[in-house]
Amino acid sequence: MKNDLAKTLAKKYGTPLYVYDAERIRENYRRLHKAFSTRWPDFQIFYAVKSNSNPAVVQILLQEGAGCDCASENELKLAMRLRVPAEKILFSGNMLADADLKAGLESKALFNLDDTSLLPRLLKFGRPEVLSFRINPAIGKSNVHESDELAGAKAKFGIPWEKAEAAYALAKEKGLKRFGVHMMTGSCVTDPAYFAKISEKLLNCVGPIGKKLKIDFEFINIGGGFGIPYQPNEKPLDIEKTASLVVEIFKKKTKEFGLSEVKLFVEPGRYLVGDAGCLVGRVHAIKESYKKFVGTDVGMNILARPVLYGAYHGIRVVKCSNGTTDHGPRTTDLVETVTVTGQACENADAWAKDRKLPKLEVGDLIVVENAGAYGYVMSYPYNGRLRAAEVLLEKNQPKLIRKREAFEDWMSGTTLFQKG
Ligand code: LLP
Repeated sequence: MKNDLAKTLAKKYGTPLYVYDAERIRENYRRLHKAFSTRWPDFQIFYAVKSNSNPAVVQILLQEGAGCDCASENELKLAMRLRVPAEKILFSGNMLADADLKAGLESKALFNLDDTSLLPRLLKFGRPEVLSFRINPAIGKSNVHESDELAGAKAKFGIPWEKAEAAYALAKEKGLKRFGVHMMTGSCVTDPAYFAKISEKLLNCVGPIGKKLKIDFEFINIGGGFGIPYQPNEKPLDIEKTASLVVEIFKKKTKEFGLSEVKLFVEPGRYLVGDAGCLVGRVHAIKESYKKFVGTDVGMNILARPVLYGAYHGIRVVKCSNGTTDHGPRTTDLVETVTVTGQACENADAWAKDRKLPKLEVGDLIVVENAGAYGYVMSYPYNGRLRAAEVLLEKNQPKLIRKREAFEDWMSGTTLFQKG
């Protein structure tokens, strides 16, 4: 986003402000879709709604042909409100409550169970047409944080692969007939070979199960986890290479285990929307203490990732103060080492620590990069610092797609007791 546009948007909508670029979302979708579908035609992308659930963002991906991967009853309701057909909704939550199980059945979505123990509970309420289990292939990887490894021995997710056969055997015994299989590879992975390696593990697990239990798996869902670069010198994921390596394994293994008709599903979030969004914030206070702090309205409650995972986000500076011209971080600028903070009364709310940035003054804007995924969705109204507004750019034309949270929104649903 150009500096002038950041200034215009900040003036019009205020800060902090999430800004998404519709064209970039489309490009990301098309690149991913082309890479896989040209190699494995029976291919479908299910957008992981959890990464950015603004309905206008979801709609862009639906227009491109995506389905939805939903994690809760409310995400299912969102997909249904957007008229996503049931066969294009995956329901893949964690530690599901009975209400989730019932909602999943009512939606007729493709049901993906995270544990064998959920099956008898689900069957008390009804029988899904198609069922998959989330298998934990015993390896995991994350470029974000150890806590973000969504598979492997430490992950709370999925059924250990050694127990997968028993899960499918039970489902067959209970009379279910149509099956798929699911896994999550990890989070923000940028190594193409890793996707092939973990896919091979999954196929080596379910291939023999299919043969032994005479299950014709209808789809194999290799999950999300396709990474984007956050650090300045990080390389982007080579998606062509990723697709080529994964499909090579798919061809080999499906032949070996006789799974030729199987569909290949993926359910990415970050890859589609992460680099299509940024967060515009303003500098409100500069403080010379034992070190120099730049206080902005982008706090841990507005963008949780840095404080939660130590995640890095690039920061661009847009000078607005004292009438100087706009500039990004050029080498000729006066660079200072500062710690960028939010406004929360928490010492943890210092999210870019000892960062070299062009000299900032009160009134300047910062543009926090790669904030399209796990940004707004993970924000919360702490200290009465309410949630940001969201804007979608279509060919640089802004459209407000969520109003800034206001005092009355914050109070809504609360009850005041009379005095005495
Ligand atoms: N499918 C399932 C079942 C998932 O749990 C996730 C993410 C995805 C798909 C999408 O994964 P992606 O393609 O976006 O990596 N808050 C963390 C990321 C947590 C991911 C949770 N599950 C972050 O800000 O990095």
